[in-house]
Amino acid sequence: MSPSLTVRRIAVDQGAVFRELRTASLREAPYAFGETLEDALLADATSFDATAARHAGSEEATSFILYTEGHPAGLIGACFEESALHRAFVSELWVAPAVRHLRGGELLVNTASEWLSSQGAREIYAWVADANRTAMRFYERLGFGPTGEHIRTGDAWETLLVRHVAPATEPPAP
Ligand SMILES: CC(C)(COP(=O)(O)OP(=O)(O)OC[C@H]1O[C@@H](n2cnc3c(N)ncnc32)[C@H](O)[C@@H]1OP(=O)(O)O)[C@@H](O)C(=O)NCCC(=O)NCCS
Repeated sequence: MSPSLTVRRIAVDQGAVFRELRTASLREAPYAFGETLEDALLADATSFDATAARHAGSEEATSFILYTEGHPAGLIGACFEESALHRAFVSELWVAPAVRHLRGGELLVNTASEWLSSQGAREIYAWVADANRTAMRFYERLGFGPTGEHIRTGDAWETLLVRHVAPATEPPAP
């Protein structure tokens, strides 16, 4: 039987869980992220506590955690960029290998997209390394397509993908 997967927004006191998932993702999939495992391990534990606390309440940036049978098993970030464009991004997507292909990644992207949409986003952007064919196919399957923006960071090329989202619906009037 497939394990049940749920997603919840990060809570104020989840700095240690956030650090555990972030370091696990950088260890397991270093090719997928701009940051390195060394960067994350060198960062003070209090910086993860501070990010969790900020992401639990901010209207500009947050994180969602994937759980399988109550155990943390994946992560995604969602934020608005600080420039005038104020584009909405998902980032830092990772699902633990043991629970891949069970739609956990899809649940994370859709939950993060809904949150960004509820904050006013009409397009959701994601940077994906060109060499990361799995992530490229994953995002394409979810309706993301290329924006035409393409940058080189170090030795690797990254492509900016976008997906349009419907405006968040207002709750029905009582
Ligand atoms: C990308 C990732 C988050 C997908 O998570 P997931 O929980 O397996 O995703 P889902 O189950 O929702 O969707 C899987 C679908 O994505 C696509 N996909 C996933 N892995 C694939 C692969 N190796 N080859 C081709 N398509 C693949 C397929 O369409 C697949 O559908 P299927 O399971 O029916 O074959 C996961 O593979 C991961 O964490 N990778 C390492 C980190 C990473 O690359 N993050 C993205 C940074 S931009």
